[in-house]
Amino acid sequence: MSKITLHTLSSMKKASEKFAVLTAYDACFSHLISAAGTEVILVGDSLGMVLQGNDSTLPVTIEEMAYHTQAVARGNQGSLIMADLPFMSYSTPEQAMDSSAALMQAGANMVKLEGGAWLADTVSMLAERGIPVCAHLGLTPQTVNKLGGYRVQGRDSESAKQMLSDAALLQDAGASIILLECVPSLLAKEITLALDVPVIGIGAGADTDAQVLVMHDMLGITPGRSPKFVKNYMQNADSIEAAISLYIQEVKDGSFPAQEHGFE
Ligand code: KIV
Repeated sequence: MSKITLHTLSSMKKASEKFAVLTAYDACFSHLISAAGTEVILVGDSLGMVLQGNDSTLPVTIEEMAYHTQAVARGNQGSLIMADLPFMSYSTPEQAMDSSAALMQAGANMVKLEGGAWLADTVSMLAERGIPVCAHLGLTPQTVNKLGGYRVQGRDSESAKQMLSDAALLQDAGASIILLECVPSLLAKEITLALDVPVIGIGAGADTDAQVLVMHDMLGITPGRSPKFVKNYMQNADSIEAAISLYIQEVKDGSFPAQEHGFE
């Protein structure tokens, strides 16, 4: 696979070609999923739950994110690496600069942060200094305590309007990608159509420009009940490689996510 850049992803959106995103936290899985053709690897702060066994992403530190980003960068075979800024590592634009520098120097090609309009200045500051940003809207797991649980967001007309306006504002501030988590499928479609930048969805229906899943979830090895938006790809595959290839294929041909994986 030739090296994926933001330009590749933007051209794919223009050509209505979908792209696939998966999480990875180490060199071995980074090698495997990038060699399979996943366009973007997300070094997610979900590692706090998946690898560390915490019940939220809040305990994850910037040092831990940098450590895992380095490992992923060593294994990468050409995917674009997006790394999460963890909880409280971007509460001011200056702190966001320092935290992002640590992730970019560890091998990330861009950073992801969670939140709406209040982040516009931070996004501009990072983008102007050459750090591409993905803004994560909808269910933002770092604010789970304020949200009162892992719930679908944007179901009433006021919060839907706010999400659409936050997405446009963050794009105008310089965000290169928007990610929507647990958002009604119709709202995600409206936001995707309204924006020029690619939109990645998780639990956001089939009409976003790309899909992301936590790799451990789609391999069916995360303990406990799976969220509604997860599909276990090991059920129809006889190896991890085959499961990952099937996921990529289904994202690209639009058969994942099916209606049953989305929200109204
Ligand atoms: O941390 C993560 O893995 C994420 C995805 C759930 C989008 O942010």
